[in-house]
Amino acid sequence: MATMEKNIIPVREGDFNLADYEKTAKDFKWEDAEREFDWYTTGKVNIAHEAVDRHADSYRKNKVALYYRDANRSEAYTYDQMKRMTNKAANVLKANSTLEKGDRLFIFMPRSPELYFALLGGLKLGTIVGPLFEAFMEGAVYDRLDDSEAKAIITTPELLDRVPADRLPKLEKIFVVGENVEETDKIVDFNKRMKEASHHFETVWLDKEDGSVLHYTSGSTGRPKGVMHVQYAMVQQLQTARWVLDLKEEDIYWCTADPGWVTGTAYGIFGPMLNGATSLILGGRFRTEDWYQAIEDYGVTVWYSAPTAFRMLMGAGNALINEYDLSTLRHVLSVGEPLNPEVVKWGLEVFDRRIHDTWWMTETGGHMICNYGSMPIKPGSMGKAVPGIEAAIVDDRGNVLPPNSMGNLALRKGWPAMMRKIWNNLEKYDSYFIGDWYVSGDSAYMDEDGYFWFQGRVDDVIMTSGERVGPFEVESKLLEHPAIVEAGVIGKPDPVRGEIIKAFVALHEGYEPTDELKEDIRQFVKKGLAAHAAPREIEFKDKLPKTRSGKIMRRVLKAWELDLPTGDLSTMED
Ligand code: WT7
Repeated sequence: MATMEKNIIPVREGDFNLADYEKTAKDFKWEDAEREFDWYTTGKVNIAHEAVDRHADSYRKNKVALYYRDANRSEAYTYDQMKRMTNKAANVLKANSTLEKGDRLFIFMPRSPELYFALLGGLKLGTIVGPLFEAFMEGAVYDRLDDSEAKAIITTPELLDRVPADRLPKLEKIFVVGENVEETDKIVDFNKRMKEASHHFETVWLDKEDGSVLHYTSGSTGRPKGVMHVQYAMVQQLQTARWVLDLKEEDIYWCTADPGWVTGTAYGIFGPMLNGATSLILGGRFRTEDWYQAIEDYGVTVWYSAPTAFRMLMGAGNALINEYDLSTLRHVLSVGEPLNPEVVKWGLEVFDRRIHDTWWMTETGGHMICNYGSMPIKPGSMGKAVPGIEAAIVDDRGNVLPPNSMGNLALRKGWPAMMRKIWNNLEKYDSYFIGDWYVSGDSAYMDEDGYFWFQGRVDDVIMTSGERVGPFEVESKLLEHPAIVEAGVIGKPDPVRGEIIKAFVALHEGYEPTDELKEDIRQFVKKGLAAHAAPREIEFKDKLPKTRSGKIMRRVLKAWELDLPTGDLSTMED
């Protein structure tokens, strides 16, 4: 492939790399990571400048920033080309609207190079960018644009119908990325304007604490909430992309996440680009063959994905893997939901690579607890707090608990990428904190070595006959059963036991959903885990409800079970 010529630049003297890890992590302070940014000397802040222009104006000018591939396109953009395209996008946005610093601009489209130009161009213009999943339907789009009083949105002709412009009085412009878009006083043909636009743009300079991205995420109740990140998050994203993603100059990095999800911005755009790395973006839907083919074709070295994806690949069978050359992979990572030890085992078997689990949240804006660097991995554990982060298990009043006690996973507030507000909802923001601790809503324990073990969302923990059972533990065990491909476990109210464990499972092809199989599964968990952890009830499903980030939505299972309303489903896959 002509566009795929690799541009290898060796690590230069003075560049940070993992070999320096010990040195930099010792007594590390986040301020230590500020020096590299242009704003450290100029005082002029803009995350898009640091991610794109800083490299375009350096020896990385002709290094590929982005490979893009889908069924119809296969392209490559160097840092210099990214600078021009994002400048053009910024010009298009500026010339065709009244968008200015701090205004909300949404991006609602499937992955394509234009999405990345527009997102970074919007940042250059100083707007706060809200990326939305292409799967959102009208109601979800409305909620987000309405709540944040968005001034403009960028979308495609296919998705245009889902933007209820007439119900959004603050929405001034709709930029449409398509062929021969018919322009009106509201609609702008993005591609046409891009062609005409200048590739020079005067970046709008901001303050470190000004907004950058706005990610809407849903809790267990209420409307989705707008989590706002700031420019200063770049400090953490740069540094963790080194320590955790282990990005080096010559890497080909592939983050499989869509920018509609925080992983797709923090580590799909900012982490790699702040480091001047080369990323692959694969458009289109998940297909096992396409994924393996992409790793082979691009020689992917660092791969960041999610347990659901790994499980789907696992389900497709190992024979397929032998048809591809995946030998370039050197560092594999996972995020979004518990990484079952079974999957880690599979990764070792088929890729001969350890899958590094990472834990963080939309609200944290960056990596918090991870298997970073070359630390020993304990399968089933999320790893340790990354340098500069203080994590602990606290009780409901914020008292730190000793090792091996289950409690609230909490983080000492004040890390660089921490959300700075919930849009329009100060009260909600405040409710996350107990004193100096940000309380995550996850329950976990920390062992004597400082490794954190995820137990479930606080509200998911099951109490059955006085025993505390983490649904994740049971789900992991269920997944080890040869018939099971997906499992979700909830506590079902029971007059005698408080709750009983109920499992919803999807079967691998070729297995019949019989009563014998149920009994076999029950015995399997009983033997493998504990009698009290064995599900009393098992229900077969074709597919389980999941978020786009791959988490089994236990609250939906629970709602089905108890015949309750399912609540906000906008983050649900499909
Ligand atoms: C919730 C946050 C930041 C991208 C992830 C999705 C769960 C996340 C892990 C992990 C177990 C995990 C937690 C967390 N989660 N990573 N490695 N092991 N659970 O972000 O949609 O904001 O969800 O995802 O429950 O609170 P999100």
